[in-house]
Amino acid sequence: MGIRLDYTNMMADAVGEEYGITDEELASLRPRAEEIHRRLDRQRKEGKLPFYDLPFDRQAAAGIMTAGEELAERFDNLVVLGIGGSALGTSALFRALCPLHHNLRRPAERGGRPRLFVLDNVDPAGFGETLDLLDPQRTVFLVISKSGSTVETSCQFMIARQWVQSRVAESWRQHFILITDPRSGNLRPLAEKEGFRSFAIPPGVGGRFSVFTPVGLLPLAAVGIDIEALLAGAGEISEKLYRRDIMANPAYLNASLQYLADRKGLHISVMMPYSDRLRDVSDWYRQLWAESLGKKFSLDGETVHAGPTPVKALGTTDQHSQVQLYMEGPFDKVVTFVVPEDYGSDLTVPPFPQVPALSYLEGRTMGELIRSEQQATAVALTKNGRPNCTISLPAVTAEAVGALIYLFEVQTLFAGGLWNVDPLDQPGVEEGKEFTYALMGREGFEEKRHEFERWHHGARRCLE
Ligand code: PA5
Repeated sequence: MGIRLDYTNMMADAVGEEYGITDEELASLRPRAEEIHRRLDRQRKEGKLPFYDLPFDRQAAAGIMTAGEELAERFDNLVVLGIGGSALGTSALFRALCPLHHNLRRPAERGGRPRLFVLDNVDPAGFGETLDLLDPQRTVFLVISKSGSTVETSCQFMIARQWVQSRVAESWRQHFILITDPRSGNLRPLAEKEGFRSFAIPPGVGGRFSVFTPVGLLPLAAVGIDIEALLAGAGEISEKLYRRDIMANPAYLNASLQYLADRKGLHISVMMPYSDRLRDVSDWYRQLWAESLGKKFSLDGETVHAGPTPVKALGTTDQHSQVQLYMEGPFDKVVTFVVPEDYGSDLTVPPFPQVPALSYLEGRTMGELIRSEQQATAVALTKNGRPNCTISLPAVTAEAVGALIYLFEVQTLFAGGLWNVDPLDQPGVEEGKEFTYALMGREGFEEKRHEFERWHHGARRCLE
């Protein structure tokens, strides 16, 4: 598989003592790391962390492959209705593993596979414009919600349901597939009562850890991604990710480096792939890292307000946008580059004699340029005392990306132990949800409406 974590430039001997990490600091984390490992291992064996086992459920994957093939045969458009963990993994892997402009290709160029739209917002303009593009007869909606009660997904579903029902005769139910908890929530009884086809998200697998369940696997299989290879990649790296020693386990080591950097005041964690295909992996990771680690309370109930801030960037694009800040701004960032060793194709720069100043590019390739720019940025950051590390993968293949995703999931879980917070909950999003219910007139939230009024200061200070 060959995923490699190069952390040379995180260390004090490369970037200096103030922000760089020393071997002693890493060594001093070992006892704590072993304790976290033992706890995770125990919880895993007790079946409390079922996401760990997802790459090995080949039977489920085979069933999903078959369902994906059926969808591809029947429909030209697949629309995911879902948000957060129910959408971001699919978007990331679709972008990584299908041709960049999959949806713009003609059906034959897509191998007869459907177009995929991941609608993870309730912006009426965006939602409506997407529906306007679609032929309802040839469109299937995957309604994805672990809780089965998320307001955005519910609203999307209600609108899409009427849109389809009014355009397609009795068979309209066949245009919806519900992916939700096997028991709880609003979608499960609806699936049973109304006879919608449905898939279960295994109990105990939270949204942001669910990409290897039908949540991600069904839409990805339908558009032609080899989900068995994706899982095989995760399975192949698993042995390394279960190692106890932080110096032998890339997930534990990267979490430890990020944690030690955070303790030195580097509270911002930038992920910067140098690859268009890997662009949205940062988006997925941003949610994983933010929702898992951003917590008010520690596991011991102390108020800690913990959590590094994840930022996404894209190389080389953001060299012309963010890198000035990373180079010269506050010392508060760690940059993680994610780099494919092989881009899968390359383009050679032809001669351009009209501009002699550009002759240095002649005969060189675009691949050489993007690689050089990544290395140049890493070295420039290092020279400026800015810690950075590089995760490289041999190529953007299903196996490699599956391994990368699994690595980040294990890294995040382990990081929860280091920051001493629960990486699996997200209590901080509840208040906003309740105020929304109150504003939307949901029964039982009347008191919340009064509370909203008390805190809503209106536009008392406003400049036009
Ligand atoms: O990671 C999480 O748990 C969240 O981001 C959820 O995925 C998100 O809130 C959507 O929830 P649900 O799948 O229940 O609709």
